[in-house]
Amino acid sequence: MKPKIYITRLFPEEIVEKLSDYFHVEMWKEQSIPVPREVLLREIEDADGLICLLTEKIDEEVLHQARQLKVISNVAVGYNNIDVQTAAKKGIIVTNTPEVLTETTADLTFALLMAAARRVVEASDFLRKGEWGAWSLMQLTGQDVYGATLGIIGLGRIGEALVRRAKGFDMNVIYYNRTRKQEKEEQLDIHYRELDDLLRQSDFVCLMLPYSDEVHHLIGKEELSLMKSNAILINTARGGIVDEAALYYALKEGQIGGAGLDVFEQEPVSVDHPLLSLPNVVALPHIGSASVKTRMKMALLACDNMMNVLTGNKPITPVIDS
Ligand code: NAP
Ligand code: GLV
Repeated sequence: MKPKIYITRLFPEEIVEKLSDYFHVEMWKEQSIPVPREVLLREIEDADGLICLLTEKIDEEVLHQARQLKVISNVAVGYNNIDVQTAAKKGIIVTNTPEVLTETTADLTFALLMAAARRVVEASDFLRKGEWGAWSLMQLTGQDVYGATLGIIGLGRIGEALVRRAKGFDMNVIYYNRTRKQEKEEQLDIHYRELDDLLRQSDFVCLMLPYSDEVHHLIGKEELSLMKSNAILINTARGGIVDEAALYYALKEGQIGGAGLDVFEQEPVSVDHPLLSLPNVVALPHIGSASVKTRMKMALLACDNMMNVLTGNKPITPVIDS
């Protein structure tokens, strides 16, 4: 009997074929409808391996159902959807997909920053709605990106890739990280700041840290009140890091200048969400790593991690929780 693996969403055909040579593959075949909880709970019972997306909550209940699960291969770098402590207690290896998505996500983060700074979406809507009466001097004026100060919270792989882009725009880069990275400061020409100082000094604040209970609503009312009145907040990390009610208030009251959001506390975000009613918000549906090449690389890495563990080899990118 081949070991069983369960894939929680439609996966590229060639990868499913590769896996099928070694495993009995079961898959939830929908593209945009997540696997129903009851199906996941049923399928996990006799699965040896699970390939899942960030939309699946792999919590104690799911892990409790798993009788012979050896590996959870998450197709994302962030793994806050998985209870890694309980998995570890049960001897289940968790893997993720770091590095292959770093540059693509940094590209999107910078695109969001540029779009919010120069009001690209608002300007495009203005044109399409026929509101472009005449060119005028101060019409749709935004913020300069070149020469501005970028504050990065979370200087990891993507944070660093963001620095390289910012340097191409002659930006002054400051950062806050859980652990100070002195060797990077010289190498990348960046400066460390405590969180409050970074918020006070930045024209753009980019969140690039993983989500955990510890950083829930790290950016709330007080933090937003420290920011410059024209500053722009960019979040491509996880929605839960920002208190969205406080952000709405800060944007509406002009405490800060704008926001670029790729992630939300509840995804998919409702079209009635108050943040979406504000013209100074650029909102995207969690597409940070969404290039064809990168998504294929993520799927392949998830497949290889799974194959390695189930054939008695070391996973390529195991999650080491900290
Ligand atoms: P990474 O290399 O692990 O970097 C994370 C950085 O955040 C590390 O430098 C880490 O510091 C720092 N950090 C952790 N906890 C912190 C805290 N409490 N305060 C300040 N800094 C903290 O991860 P990555 O590959 O750059 O990815 C970062 C996150 O981006 C992912 O976890 C994911 O949530 C998000 N992401 C989103 C998309 C998207 O589609 N929007 C795509 C990819 C990734 P240490 O050095 O102390 O560990
Ligand atoms: C996407 O959000 C990821 O964590 O890879």
